[in-house]
Amino acid sequence: MSTHIAAKSGDIAEAILLPGDPLRAKFIAENFLEEPVQYTGVRNMLGYTGIYRGKRVSVQGTGMGIPSISIYVNELFRDYHVRRAIRIGTAGAILPELKLRDLVIAMSASTDSGANNQRFGGRNFAPTAAFSLLKTAYDTAAARGWQPKVGSIVSTDMFYAEDPGDWKLWAKFGVMAVEMETAELYTLAAKYGREALSLLTISDSLVSGETTSAEERQTAFTGMMEVALETAIS
Ligand code: HPA
Repeated sequence: MSTHIAAKSGDIAEAILLPGDPLRAKFIAENFLEEPVQYTGVRNMLGYTGIYRGKRVSVQGTGMGIPSISIYVNELFRDYHVRRAIRIGTAGAILPELKLRDLVIAMSASTDSGANNQRFGGRNFAPTAAFSLLKTAYDTAAARGWQPKVGSIVSTDMFYAEDPGDWKLWAKFGVMAVEMETAELYTLAAKYGREALSLLTISDSLVSGETTSAEERQTAFTGMMEVALETAIS
């Protein structure tokens, strides 16, 4: 048992998918896994374990933002036997070449968060994906005829930034998209010696102002799920 995850040690698989939305965790468990069992419901942050193509996989909601994902990922790495964590989420495009519904594989994550400032005392750590997972995810997507965009993203603390044009500085340095969790996931994976990857669907564009409908997000999401699950069991 952890503070925020009410599961016994063996309840959680070595490979886990991490959506921000706990109801997305429920949806994945019920639609993609066989024999799903809910192992936690503390604060409604649902977690399930089931079987995908013969292998055990878990799926756990993390909430939004670095402080929230930090709590869940710390507990998953410290208190359970999680070796491989794959975030599945959405991101806002900040480069014009990124289009709605594009699949982004985050190679590295810059951040404006205070978390790593606090952790590293002003030094700059470079949160990086596990190459093995990145390669598997890329190959899996490419084999289906998709063209994932691989590169750097930024994890921000401020969905509603004081300066709404804040993202332009990151774009100037080739950062593709903005979300709110990956820098912490990659940092914790490095700390605990585990594998982590973030797969992101572009849900909106800060460049063009376009957004996806719920239906469009669902279709793009199903493709991303296939890539995530194949990578989880690889
Ligand atoms: N900003 C931050 N996080 C996000 C966004 C965004 O525009 N879109 C999806 N996640």
